[in-house]
Amino acid sequence: MDRKESSPLIEALRREQANAVQLYLQYKGYHWNVSGPSFHDLHLLFDAHATQVFEMIDELAERQRILGAPADYTLEALRQASNLVVEEKLPSNPREMVEHLVTSHRRVIDGLKKGIEVADGRGDPGTADLFTRFLQTHEKMEWFLREILEKAAPLSGK
Ligand SMILES: [Fe+2]
Repeated sequence: MDRKESSPLIEALRREQANAVQLYLQYKGYHWNVSGPSFHDLHLLFDAHATQVFEMIDELAERQRILGAPADYTLEALRQASNLVVEEKLPSNPREMVEHLVTSHRRVIDGLKKGIEVADGRGDPGTADLFTRFLQTHEKMEWFLREILEKAAPLSGK
C-alpha cells in the first residue's frame, strides 16, 4: 500500500484502527469462551464492550481517508499496525481474561493520549476530538473491568 501520505498522525490513526480490530476480536473471543460462575455477566459485558470497540473501527479508518491516506483492511496489515499483545493460548480463567483486557485498554489509552498530543501539535482539532471521545470510552470500559478485579490500581496511580 502506498505510504507516501504517512505522518505521525496517520500512523497513530492506523495503529488505533488496528488495535480496535484486535481488541474487538479479543473481546469476542472471551465472550465465546468464558465459563464459570460469572459466565452470564461476563458473557454479556464482553459483548457490550465489543460492540463499543467495533463502532470505533469505521471512524478511525475514515479519519485516515479524510486526511488523504489509505485505510488498511487486510488481516496482515492490521496485525503489523497493532501494538496490542494478545496471547495465543486462551486464558485459563475469567479473571485472567479481565486482566488481559485491562492491559489492552491501558495500551490503547496510552496510544490515544499520544495521538491527542500529535493532533494538537498539528492543529487538527477534529482528530484530537475523535481520539478524546474514544479515550473517554476506553477509560470507562477499563474502569468497569478494574472494578471486577477490585484490587487493581486506578489508571492514574499506575
Ligand atoms: Fe454472542
